[in-house]
Parts: sequence; structure tokens; C-alpha cells
Amino acid sequence: MRVLGIETSCDETAASVVALDGTAAPEILSNIVLSQIEEHAAFGGVVPEIAARAHVEALDGIVEAALADSSVSLDEVDAIAATAGPGLVGGLIVGLMTAKAIAAAAGKPLIAINHLEGHALTARLTDGLDFPYLLLLVSGGHTQIVAVRGVGDYQRWATTIDDALGEAFDKTAKMLGLPYPGGPNVEKAATSGDPRRFAFPRPMKGSAQPDFSFSGLKTAVRQAATAIAPLSDQDVADICASFQAAVADALGDRVGRALARFRQEFPGQAKPALVVAGGVAANRTIKATLETLCSEAGFAFIAPPQKLCTDNAAMIAWAGIERLRAGIADENTADFVPRSRWPLDSVSAPLVGSGRRGAKA
Ligand code: KG4
Ligand code: ZN
Repeated sequence: MRVLGIETSCDETAASVVALDGTAAPEILSNIVLSQIEEHAAFGGVVPEIAARAHVEALDGIVEAALADSSVSLDEVDAIAATAGPGLVGGLIVGLMTAKAIAAAAGKPLIAINHLEGHALTARLTDGLDFPYLLLLVSGGHTQIVAVRGVGDYQRWATTIDDALGEAFDKTAKMLGLPYPGGPNVEKAATSGDPRRFAFPRPMKGSAQPDFSFSGLKTAVRQAATAIAPLSDQDVADICASFQAAVADALGDRVGRALARFRQEFPGQAKPALVVAGGVAANRTIKATLETLCSEAGFAFIAPPQKLCTDNAAMIAWAGIERLRAGIADENTADFVPRSRWPLDSVSAPLVGSGRRGAKA
């Protein structure tokens, strides 16, 4: 089975070919990701119109490169899988329409993929993980804990009631005058900072409601920064370190709760697994916190390689293979319309006022 994947839901234009032969481990034959960071940096965040135009300009070449790199011709591909949501609708239209055109011209089936499903199934591509497992998705647009029970069978256990975690990093960076994207720059500044200088709140810590919240923390950072302005480099470093410590602590509390619930709901597993996905999973302080938490709770901690944790098309191609293999690919066909919002779990009700209006997934 060979699937061409296309991803354009935010600011990466990506295409990939993934293959699965019999019972052998799946193989990523090509994985091309063009980041638009430079185009958006001047604006301190992703500008939807610029993103859509950049996708239009780049996508043909990226698809061609992905096919060339994989040494697989379009004829040899079994299906085209494209991200159809959630995300910025301009980019989604570009990716999905291109995929539909390629599929129609080549006489191949089209599979419309939920971007979040791509993140959710990546650990099966990289680590051959069996169902069920627990997923922590921490990106610029999402902060969710999901019980991954099977292909197309996801249960959201927690989500953010306000900002996504990556968004909190990005906004904190912006407040402190650090460049976009904020996450890596906050982490870098934090290495020379004192995590105990500012006692920032740990939102939701100890709450019986399983969800996340980060906007109060962001406000606390703003107040602390305003109170001591103008900020020296050391002040910035201390704020970043204290912010990161608060985030790691709050996250650890929320995830710890979910691990306990997973044990209760899936008692048969001797060593269950927690998988992390999303750009924020690159953060070493957060990773270390989760690693310790997992080892104390007897969970395996699985962090796929960074380039498969952040947005890419290999995860979309792989989700296409999973759907083909499970026989559930034909519900998402050529008449599929892009969805800027598309919850992975259609059963759990959305939280009031929650979720992203726009940008990253
Ligand atoms: O998964 P991703 O590349 O894109 C989507 O959101 O889909 O995640 C990007 C987010 C940004 O908010 C970025 O600031 C954050 O991940 N990020 C980090 C780090 N690297 C990226 N946050 C904290 N620490 C990092 N090292
Ligand atoms: Zn993503």
C-alpha cells in the first residue's frame, strides 16, 4: 500500500509518500516540509491570507518533490490523503482541492483526513504501537488529552478552556519581545533564568474538571513583566523560566490525572503508553516532567521524532493507510468539504468558549 499525503492546514506546505508492505514496518519513502515561518515572522504570528497564497505557490512543487524523492510514480500510489480540517480554511482549500484534482486525474481514491487524527496515529507509524493508548497533543492550536482506542475511535478526555499551550508560549514570547515562533525562544531564554523568582499560578491544578487553562497564567506573566519594566535580559530569562516551570507543573497535574483514569478504564494493559505530539512536545522541561510522571505511573513514554511530532504530511499519508486498511476510507471521498473546525471526538461536547478560532492545529 502506497499513499501520497498532503498537509496545508497551517503554515507548513508538506507532501509525503508512505508505504506499507504486508506485515513489515511501514516506511516513509519521502517527507517534504516547507515551513512558512519566514513569511509570517514579521507579523508575529501566522497570517491566514499569506499562508493560503504561499500554499498555492509551493504545493505543486512540493508534491512533485515528494513523488520524486520516494521513487514512486503517481500510477503506483493507491490513494491520495489530504488534510481536510481542522485549520485555516484557505490552506485547507488549497490542499484538498489539489488532492482532489490529482486523485481525479490519476483515477485514484481521495481520503480526507482529520489533521488531529494524523497526530493521533503517528506513534503507530514510528513505534508500531497497539491500541489503546493515551495521547497528549500540545501544539499551537490544540491542547488535548485523547484516549486513542482504534482507527476513527477517539475519546477526548481533556481540552483547553481558553488558550492552547503553544499559543501561551507564543503570546508570552511576544509580551517579552522575543521573536516568533515563541516556544523555542522562551525555552532558550529560560535556560539562564531562575524558575523560582516568580510564583506564577498553576491553572486548574488539583481541579476535578480534567481540562487545561492557560489564559490566567498569561495574564500573570503580563502583570509581572509590567511591574518590573523595563526588563533586563535576566528579567526576561527569569520570567521565561518561571513560566515554563508553572506550565510543566500544571501539565503534569492534568496528565497525571489522565494516566490514573486510563489505568481504570483499560485495566488489562501491563505497561500502557502515553504518546506526545505537537510542537510543544519539543520542550525539554515539559518532556522531562512527562517522562518522570510516566515512569512513576508505570507508563511507557513515547515521543516520536520531532519532525513527525510537528506538522508534516507523513502523518496524513499514514492516517490514509490506516483508514484504507481498516476499510473506513470511503466515507471521506471526493465531495468532502474542508472544515475549519472538526473535532476528533464527535461525542464529547465542545467546551463553551473553548477552542481555536483560526490558526494552528
Ligand atoms: O505542532 P506545531 O509545529 O504546529 C501546530 O500548532 O500545529 O506547533 C507549533 C507550536 C508553536 O506554538 C510553538 O511556539 C510551539 O509549538 N513550540 C514550542 C517549542 N517548539 C515549538 N513550545 C515550547 N517549547 C518549544 N521548544
Ligand atoms: Zn498540528
